Amino acid sequence: MKCRRCKAPAVIDIRRHNAAFCSECFLHHCREQVRKAIHEYEMFGPEDRVLVAVSGGKDSLALWDLLVDLDYEVDGLYLGLGIGDYSDESGVHTRQFAQERGLKLHEVDLPTDHGFDIPGAAQVTRRAPCGACGLSKRHLFNSTAIEHGYDVVATGHNLDDEAAVLLGNVLRWETGYLGRQYPVLEASDGFARKVKPLVRLGEREMAAYCVLSGIDYQVEECPMAEGNRHLGFKEVLNSLEDRSPGAKAAFLSGFFARGHERFQTEADQVLLAPCPECGAPTTTGGTCAFCSLRARAGVVPVELRAGR
Ligand code: AMP
Ligand code: FES
Ligand code: ZN
Repeated sequence: MKCRRCKAPAVIDIRRHNAAFCSECFLHHCREQVRKAIHEYEMFGPEDRVLVAVSGGKDSLALWDLLVDLDYEVDGLYLGLGIGDYSDESGVHTRQFAQERGLKLHEVDLPTDHGFDIPGAAQVTRRAPCGACGLSKRHLFNSTAIEHGYDVVATGHNLDDEAAVLLGNVLRWETGYLGRQYPVLEASDGFARKVKPLVRLGEREMAAYCVLSGIDYQVEECPMAEGNRHLGFKEVLNSLEDRSPGAKAAFLSGFFARGHERFQTEADQVLLAPCPECGAPTTTGGTCAFCSLRARAGVVPVELRAGR
């Protein structure tokens, strides 16, 4: 196997591109895919201040590295979710990455700054922890960006993540979600722009990127996400991809190009008012979902929780 670009011995092949690359040309390929995604979807320009949400996992650390390489003005944001050793370790990886490169990292810690953690929130809501976790992440990514004057929030969702979410949305014809699933969500009153610059790169490519560029990431997955239905959707898509390489990327990029806009009108019509507690825009007309969660989850003392 030879590198498509320079003909040196290849270290990785990417079947959907019918190509193999040596280490250096593979890193170049990843940068090119991110550059293309940023331009294709007009995510941001050199004048924008970008806040990248970093979990300590392969995708978001690789994204931060790639955006710095591409010369964007980009700082990091790490959220401590209070998920035991998993959170402690993800914080260590993220801080170490930032320190080694002299990059600016903002930190918000749910237990210290907001008085609750994800296991406690899952318990009071009696739902899968991912719901409370996703809600807290969306809220805090946005409020931190607004507070510090960033134009854009970038997350490390990759091609596999987005294709799995799309499959889930299509299987249930979630028209509202389909209208909002896009690599760019424009800024509006009280909301920074949200972007996903890794939509052209798969999970395997992101892991290879980290290994080949010496990024020490957290390999362990979140212990609370076990049985997450997206994992099942990923398996289904992977077996499709095995039989017909490129199927996954075609499914996702075809939706962005020809499907997404058909669901838009329904999703766009929402009236927003500021949350009386935190000022974040909300559809409820009262306290926002995050402040409501904090009020409920913050009152369960740690020692009274199930399993202790
Ligand atoms: P997940 O929700 O775990 O699939 O992660 C999706 C993206 O959200 C990651 O690629 C990161 O950009 C961001 N993210 C997840 N967890 C955190 C965290 N604890 N702190 C900051 N960003 C995070
Ligand atoms: Fe959110 Fe695990 S990272 S529930
Ligand atoms: Zn609020």
